Amino acid sequence: MGRQRYFIIMWASLTILVHTDGNLWEPTNITRLDEQNGRTVSIKLHTFKKWRVGALARAWLSPPVSGDGMSKTHCAHNCLDDGRCVTFIFKNNMCRIYTTVPRATPTIGMDSIHWDMYEISNPCTENQNLCEHGSICVPDRLTKTYECINCLPPFTGNHCNETTDVTMVHNEILHDDILFGRNKSCAALYYHFDVPAGNQIQNIFPWRDQRKITVLCNSQYMVASNAASYAANVRELHAEDFADGLDISISFFRAHTSFLQEIDKVIPIDRYIFTCDRMSDGVWYEFTTSRVNAFDRYETVDYFTAKTDKRPQQDLMLFYASIPGVQLNCPNGTTSDPNIDPEERPFKNLVLDSDQINGPKFTYTNQSKQCFGNEGDVRLFKLRILN
Ligand SMILES: *[C@@H]1O[C@H](CO)[C@@H](O)[C@H](O)[C@H]1NC(C)=O
Ligand SMILES: *[C@@H]1O[C@H](CO)[C@@H](O)[C@H](O)[C@H]1NC(C)=O
Ligand SMILES: *[C@@H]1O[C@H](CO)[C@@H](O)[C@H](O)[C@H]1NC(C)=O
Ligand SMILES: *[C@@H]1O[C@H](CO)[C@@H](O)[C@H](O)[C@H]1NC(C)=O
Ligand SMILES: *[C@@H]1O[C@H](CO)[C@@H](O)[C@H](O)[C@H]1NC(C)=O
Repeated sequence: MGRQRYFIIMWASLTILVHTDGNLWEPTNITRLDEQNGRTVSIKLHTFKKWRVGALARAWLSPPVSGDGMSKTHCAHNCLDDGRCVTFIFKNNMCRIYTTVPRATPTIGMDSIHWDMYEISNPCTENQNLCEHGSICVPDRLTKTYECINCLPPFTGNHCNETTDVTMVHNEILHDDILFGRNKSCAALYYHFDVPAGNQIQNIFPWRDQRKITVLCNSQYMVASNAASYAANVRELHAEDFADGLDISISFFRAHTSFLQEIDKVIPIDRYIFTCDRMSDGVWYEFTTSRVNAFDRYETVDYFTAKTDKRPQQDLMLFYASIPGVQLNCPNGTTSDPNIDPEERPFKNLVLDSDQINGPKFTYTNQSKQCFGNEGDVRLFKLRILN
């Protein structure tokens, strides 16, 4: 009788194992002679794929298991010991295991470079192109199956690769990045395709077919509004502008709520960063929805896509000023303004910093431009999104 123990190998690369038995879920069994006691030891080889970029889901998927003082190997053991676990993430001494993959909740999960993420070997890790056209491969360890979720029209089928819409496919051979929908946000390009940091003009393919838009990526962020007080013309962006051929790589433009809603449908938005800077003294302010590593702060994002009318709590937003000692004092502890058209939320009365109606505020409309300073004393207004 051999003693059994787990032996865990973690692949740091994208190495793909070829399983001759065809069962990608099962551990590989190896039998060895243990020199110390002369007995045969049976070793199970379990393989985890390390993803290049980690991810976080909004809520821990039941049951939440975490522990401090933990090593990565312990974390892997925890995952193996729970027959449902398919993913673990690890940071410092923190271990979280999931019964599903964070990518399964694209509207509420987000990439995070702060966590290492490992996924147990399964058909999804074996073939990253299994689920086509941007659909998401979700493994289920209990049933040893997988599913392609988030399949968008015109595609259907178990692998999201069937369509009757021939005009969509033409006779062209599509680049894998488009076909498999990986190349569809500034963040995806930045994290997965070695696009350099800073400002880069990029073509992205939000609909996972040939239709493209041209945008200005600022590292992992996409610039959605870029307006300046000295600009002769600012293009107003509404829902109908989010269409094939859109080019917002050249300033100046300003996103309205309906435009952001259209983006959110195809590339779910994780975060907004609003920035203004003053002309007179160069001081700038930054206002960001959701904190880094917050999993349940999507309500702040949802306000700007008008999925909710609940105005963001001031303390759920991150506020940064380029000068020290600035304190925000929003009326009733909430940002924005209840008396504006929802379509104007991403730029009008973003922050009212006083109970007085004429107090300092952050706003950028045709009628009023303020950056917590005097009326008109604004040089730039920017909105960057992370999705
Ligand atoms: C490995 O061994 C276990 C029992 O220890 C067995 O249940 C499993 O089927 C074996 N897997 C393979 C691929 O042989
Ligand atoms: C869809 O993908 C599956 C799995 O890769 C493949 O077996 C099938 O032939 C594909 N179907 C089409 C229509 O391409
Ligand atoms: C994204 O896809 C386009 C079209 O094939 C390609 O030109 C571009 O290089 C891809 N981007 C990256 C970063 O791979
Ligand atoms: C703001 O001014 C621009 C001209 O720069 C104009 O095209 C646009 O319609 C105006 N927007 C609103 C909401 O009045
Ligand atoms: C703050 O709360 C009071 C009492 O509920 C309300 O009357 C007032 O309109 C609120 N102010 C803002 C700016 O929301």
